[in-house]
Amino acid sequence: MKILYFSGTGNSLYVAKQFAMEPISITQAVKNNEFTYKDDEIGIICPLYCHMPPKIVRDFLKKAILETEYLFVIFTYGNRKCDAFEWMDTYMKSNGMDCSYIDAVKMVDNFLPSFDMAEQKAMDKDIEGQIKRILANVKEHRIGYEKTTLEEAEHHRKIMETAEGSPELFDGSLLRVTDQCIGCGICVYVCPRGKYMLKGKKAVRQEGSCEYCQACAQNCPQKAIFPGKTDKNPEERFRNPHISLQELVEANCSAENIPKMKQIVD
Ligand SMILES: Cc1cc2nc3c(=O)[nH]c(=O)nc-3n(C[C@H](O)[C@H](O)[C@H](O)COP(=O)(O)O)c2cc1C
Ligand code: SF4
Ligand code: SF4
Repeated sequence: MKILYFSGTGNSLYVAKQFAMEPISITQAVKNNEFTYKDDEIGIICPLYCHMPPKIVRDFLKKAILETEYLFVIFTYGNRKCDAFEWMDTYMKSNGMDCSYIDAVKMVDNFLPSFDMAEQKAMDKDIEGQIKRILANVKEHRIGYEKTTLEEAEHHRKIMETAEGSPELFDGSLLRVTDQCIGCGICVYVCPRGKYMLKGKKAVRQEGSCEYCQACAQNCPQKAIFPGKTDKNPEERFRNPHISLQELVEANCSAENIPKMKQIVD
């Protein structure tokens, strides 16, 4: 089995690791121009952003050649998946691929601008139970996916209206670095789009939109990255508790040579 994943804060990487010992990072695959994969079973695992896979995953899938008998997709999300399964089925078909099975795991919602991280971390969403159920389904090559309810479709429509009317709320252009920055470089190495650089002892975020994956803001040890118009979590940040900072750097670092964390902190 081959697993291809994208993860900003570790939830999707944690799920990916339940399926394969060495899941393949989509960020690294794109960086290394590796788009062809062949196996008996291939899985795509990534978060939902506005009820869709992140742009980096969508762009990867446009170029990918996935040769397999059983292609499945597992999303991780925090609150509502809406019509994500149908959207993905259609998207894959439009790129010449047929999904055998689509499912999702509800986990901590990492969207810093809107959700209270302490509250999210304290919620019992039965993550292990959900993963166990999906693992069993994949093992028996389950086919299909849950259909969207009318209420969920309507919710998606409203969110997309907001997204189209206020793109800055979702494209990352509201992120900013505060004076609390100590120039440790972590944001430089966890960003899948390579958006940060150090100037002297301060991080500078370059212009242009991004995934808005929150990896920079969530992993900054100083909480020096303000995530949006508001910061509901001035004292709280999130990274999946089973995933180390080093693993996220290895997943997302856009630099040629991926550093070891000690080198960054030094
Ligand atoms: C930009 C952005 C948009 C998101 N949109 C949704 C969403 O539409 N529905 C939802 O339930 N969760 C949403 N989330 C929460 C993530 O999907 C969820 O926390 C996911 O498990 C994060 O995975 P990761 O840790 O692998 O990055 C969003 C998170 C971000 C950063
Ligand atoms: S992670 Fe935070 S403290 Fe470290 S360089 Fe980036 S903004 Fe500064
Ligand atoms: S700037 Fe931050 S939110 Fe945007 S892609 Fe990089 S790590 Fe993700």
